[in-house]
Amino acid sequence: MHKKSVENPEEFWGELVQEFYWNSPPTGAILDYNFDVTKGNVYVNFMKGATTNICYNLLDRKTQETDQGEKIAYYWEGNEPHDCSAITYSQLLTEVCKFANVLRSLGVQKGDRVAIYLPVIPELIYAMLACARIGVVHSIVFAGFSAESLCDRILDSQCILLVTADGFYRGEKLINLKQIADAALEKCKCKKGFVVKRCIVVQHLGNKLRKSQGKAHCNILQLFWNSETDMCWEFLMKNASEQCEPEWVDAEHPLFILYTSGSTGKPKGVLHTVAGYLIYTAISFKYIFDYHDNDVYWCTADIGWITGHSYVTYGPLANGATSVLFEGLLLYPHVGRLYEIIEKYKVTKLYTAPTVIRMLMRLGEGPVRKFNLKSLKILGCAGEPINPEAWTWYYNVIGNGQCPIMDTFWQTETTFPFFGVLPAVLNEHGEELQAEAEGYLAFKQPWPSILRTVYGDNERFETTYFKQFPGFYLTGDSCRRDGDGYYWITGRVDDMLNVSGHLLSSAEVESALSEHSAVAEVAVVSHPHPMKGECIYCFVTLKDGRELTKSISDELKSKVRQKIGPIATPDFIQNAPGLPKTRSGKIMRRILRRIACNEKELGDVSTLIDPTVVDVLFSQRGQAAA
Ligand code: PRX
Repeated sequence: MHKKSVENPEEFWGELVQEFYWNSPPTGAILDYNFDVTKGNVYVNFMKGATTNICYNLLDRKTQETDQGEKIAYYWEGNEPHDCSAITYSQLLTEVCKFANVLRSLGVQKGDRVAIYLPVIPELIYAMLACARIGVVHSIVFAGFSAESLCDRILDSQCILLVTADGFYRGEKLINLKQIADAALEKCKCKKGFVVKRCIVVQHLGNKLRKSQGKAHCNILQLFWNSETDMCWEFLMKNASEQCEPEWVDAEHPLFILYTSGSTGKPKGVLHTVAGYLIYTAISFKYIFDYHDNDVYWCTADIGWITGHSYVTYGPLANGATSVLFEGLLLYPHVGRLYEIIEKYKVTKLYTAPTVIRMLMRLGEGPVRKFNLKSLKILGCAGEPINPEAWTWYYNVIGNGQCPIMDTFWQTETTFPFFGVLPAVLNEHGEELQAEAEGYLAFKQPWPSILRTVYGDNERFETTYFKQFPGFYLTGDSCRRDGDGYYWITGRVDDMLNVSGHLLSSAEVESALSEHSAVAEVAVVSHPHPMKGECIYCFVTLKDGRELTKSISDELKSKVRQKIGPIATPDFIQNAPGLPKTRSGKIMRRILRRIACNEKELGDVSTLIDPTVVDVLFSQRGQAAA
């Protein structure tokens, strides 16, 4: 199938699209593109001119044209083990239609952008699919991001409405989400591009407390309620109709924007379009996880990341699958929670990240042995390179030596390098290397679900992915092709940091740190970490020759949490009286990475303007505040 997909894409995709519903056929070629910047603007069109609706494909066809309506779409498992529910396909369709009608009644129209800032609760799925149903573009922001991050994202895509919740528990910690959302809206208010008219608030905690404590109003969060903009989800849904005609949109109509870190520090709004994304998530889910009708599938990613978009929502639903939707933390309230959930729902296919596997591995086999994991058939992982030790443990201990592991390399921009994907390994000059080789990982032609642009900045789209080596899509990763033809992803070649499978850019963290009044200059690099894969190591030069104290370190950390979110919290902050720079003033991060690891072998340092700073940094390494 792969051979056909790259050699005869028209026929391959032409056959595959028959399995989906189109309201009208395409007007031209199935896959039409220009990948070469030297020949004009880069573009990719899949099924252009055809009209369809992704929500209709996922839900209506399942519930009407087959008798799947009563099948469970999601087992929702809350933060607390006793807090759970099951949602069938027809219930899901009803809730989605109701919320789509709510959005329409508030004047939200095809092409508008809606920001969604929610924990992993069913309302998140209802909201995203409701947007898709009426041709509205969703922009989901992970609920662990800070007010500033949310504000930046709302402004960049000019969202006209925000959906959030009162709050939620992450383990034992109460997160007052509405308060963060309020702070974000307050920050955006006076800025260009601010057009949010309404904020819809799910009473997620409020309802739980009312249920468990029987009180009419139990408001531990003491929500601030702005009567001009805030609206209660439950109230709006009560009066909404359950029938909602889908909006038939062009195959290339935008489906969602999802922000991913870029090396300049400003997150990029990666734009995906309807048909290509539908087909690719659907078939990758089906073939990579060998999906069968009676499977129970669980992807542990938060919907706020691309993995959650693709493999919690769109891919599984497109196949009529039953999935686990998990709100909580994998080690709460006990270290065996992941295993407990597998046993409880008899999960057959598990998709998680190397960082999770390393975390579980450290806790040993004891907790695993307390649960029955015999239901498992296939294991998956994604997000970062998996180290052999973690792979072996995943295979032997969780999979009991019986389950193949699907290690899936992909990106927010791409989804799986799978049917239609032709990888190439390039050298510095952009020349393609053959056979066994190591170099830049690139792709020679598009596949249906490649990103279409960076929202509002098409030039950045072309510069980031296509300009360096014309004719290729550049991933930003390096890789090695071995004698058997396998691709080993060896890590990022740009200034990106991959912390627990989440990409962050050094520039993003540096700009947060630089806001501290005592900071003169900073440089941020990645450092190996036993659980997170990579963690953040900061070199900080303070003003007026000041010394880094514990309290400044703590302030710097909280600055990063406030600007980006807790995932970006630095692990190390080291005092740096000076930074290694080239004559043109460029900070040599390659050298800083070595210093952070205490690796004395620095390679070529001839371009350094002042080599003595290196010795000073080595000598002060030990005092880095962890
Ligand atoms: O560096 C690669 C790494 O994660 C990057 C993409 O991150 P993001 O856009 O957040 O999408 C995550 C989708 C899973 C890649 O450029 N990466 C992702 N998966 C793997 C990986 N590195 C090695 N092996 C993987 N399986």
